[in-house]
Amino acid sequence: MRRMIIAGNWKLFGTIAETENLCKGLLNGKSRSERAEVLVCPPYTALAAASSLLADSHIAVGGQDMSEYEGGAYTGEISAEMLLTVGATFVILGHSERRQYHAETDQLVNAKAVRALASGLTPIICVGETLEERESGRTEDVVGAQIAGTLKDLSAEDLKKTVVAYEPVWAIGTGKTATPEMAEAVHRFIRERLVALDNEAAEMLPILYGGSVKPNNAAGLLSQPNIDGALVGGASLKADDFIAIINAA
Ligand code: PGA
Repeated sequence: MRRMIIAGNWKLFGTIAETENLCKGLLNGKSRSERAEVLVCPPYTALAAASSLLADSHIAVGGQDMSEYEGGAYTGEISAEMLLTVGATFVILGHSERRQYHAETDQLVNAKAVRALASGLTPIICVGETLEERESGRTEDVVGAQIAGTLKDLSAEDLKKTVVAYEPVWAIGTGKTATPEMAEAVHRFIRERLVALDNEAAEMLPILYGGSVKPNNAAGLLSQPNIDGALVGGASLKADDFIAIINAA
């Protein structure tokens, strides 16, 4: 059976006080799932606090991005090693907000993924089409190119340690979710592309869905055969909502 992962992407939210509240809310609630691993990705400044609050719990911690470099004169950047030293085990890479506002390309995301894997972090590589791309019938072309570009040169062993998140850009933060059938169709397409890279890795690699996942739509999405979890933005900032999504898994 493939791993199932419910991940919270806090984005630009989470002071230390808010992080403490949210982590305590998760620990005090029924946030443990038989089926799914649980992960939160706070901003960098809150990672250490989250890690220490969640130490020895069932909840893992991840970064929202990282540099492709090990170190050097790169003001404002953070390295894989730095994430590891504050207890992160995962890192989100190539989120559409990074692609849109920071001009991140598939090539850059690929370099980051290579670095993350070499350092021992599990990359969660995000792909997804814009509304215009979907409406012009180009979803598979766009997602296929993102998969090829971001996973380029990863060995079969690397792919087995990688997670992909399908996040249609038009569904992120908009309240518009892909229907379970729409999402499943793209997840199945991604799985087929992975099979072409390596059969065994394709079977193992979890593909998460992201984009306005809420307590009321999570069960439908997560019941699809190729949807192996969720990358949750807005709803991961409320302990009760995030717990409800975990329980839907
Ligand atoms: P959302 O964000 O759940 O608020 O739509 C998802 C994401 O960007 O990962």
